[in-house]
Amino acid sequence: MSLPNKKGYFGEFGGKYVPETLMALLDDLEKVFRSAVKDRSFQKEFQYYLREYAGRPTSLYLAERLSKHLKTLKVYLKREDLLHTGAHKINNTIGQVLLAKRMKKTRVIAETGAGQHGVATATVAALTGLECVVYMGAEDVERQALNVDRMKLLGSKVIPVTSGSQTLKDAMNEAIRDWVTNVRNTFYIIGSVAGPHPYPLMVREFQAVIGREARRQFVHFGHKVHKEKRLPDYLVACVGGGSNAMGLFHAFFNDREVHMIGVEAAGLGLNTDQNSASLKKGEVGVLHGSKSRVLETKDGQIKPAHSIAAGLDYPGVGPEHAYYQKIGRAQYVTVTDKEAISGVKLLSRMEGIIPAMETAHAIIYLEKLARGVKGQKNVIVCLSGRGDKDMGSIKELIK
Ligand SMILES: Cc1ncc(COP(=O)(O)O)c(C=O)c1O
Repeated sequence: MSLPNKKGYFGEFGGKYVPETLMALLDDLEKVFRSAVKDRSFQKEFQYYLREYAGRPTSLYLAERLSKHLKTLKVYLKREDLLHTGAHKINNTIGQVLLAKRMKKTRVIAETGAGQHGVATATVAALTGLECVVYMGAEDVERQALNVDRMKLLGSKVIPVTSGSQTLKDAMNEAIRDWVTNVRNTFYIIGSVAGPHPYPLMVREFQAVIGREARRQFVHFGHKVHKEKRLPDYLVACVGGGSNAMGLFHAFFNDREVHMIGVEAAGLGLNTDQNSASLKKGEVGVLHGSKSRVLETKDGQIKPAHSIAAGLDYPGVGPEHAYYQKIGRAQYVTVTDKEAISGVKLLSRMEGIIPAMETAHAIIYLEKLARGVKGQKNVIVCLSGRGDKDMGSIKELIK
């Protein structure tokens, strides 16, 4: 697939809606990125860190008890939770920090919601000896306290953002402000397939390893008793900005028989204002430098989002997902906060794997999917991260 086009559009979505001062920088970044991905030494170094430092490839694990429970689905978990730092975010931060080094930047910044991208950025900054500042909404600083301590221990500065809804959107606003002021020495490591071109493309490329591995493991490891020799029927992943989902989906884009399902956060319900379902409930609009689907008021102001999962609590979504939705390549569904909590319990008790609250949205959706399919189907779920970070806030909920 040759998308995005030269201007960074996936159909009508994407582009670069940024101040003049950032235009030249984004052009420069795109040039460096395009030459790096063609450069064998860059690829070799990227692969080296993915393998030796992050722990790739991750396993594709057949969840037997969960499959038995669901009856009609044979569920394979793509275990990104097993990676160093506990989530898929490390794949992308390794790629971007290597670009930062290539561009001779001395400082990296990031926004974070669940704190997983912040921890992954702090980690690669420590690894490469770069200064690191992470912006995080004040509400998220509280609900993801464990990750704040991890970032600090790794030597990063965490700046709580108290404007707006004090969540991911506001953290990203502040990060962009910092970037505009300090472009000379600073590289902005964006944590999802969002932001202005070339970020949605870059992050997709760095995360596409998830789907490439899963495809290979599913199709070619047929000799290992339970793995399949054909393509899966379904791919399921949670969608915040959309990087773990796009990372899984991308390698299957041309496999028309593979159904893709992205699970957004319905929060307190789709009929309330307290959700993060930008694809299901949003309008076409511009947020953080790209055109996509966003939650906005009638006057075009961005609405605050809500999700129990800090990493899904974002009123926008990556432009490529808006495109997949528009062309009908993927289907987007929603799961409420309450359902997500039962998703955490379900996987913990069925498989001995405690998923992140974000991931739990994808897990619990399987119950709905299982009721809707005819016959026996295979599904790969992106197990995007582990749940340790949520233990503080979930304690009350699981009594
Ligand atoms: C474990 C985990 N899964 C999913 C997400 C959502 O991000 P994305 O949609 O970019 O994968 C996050 C974000 O912080 C996360 O920490």
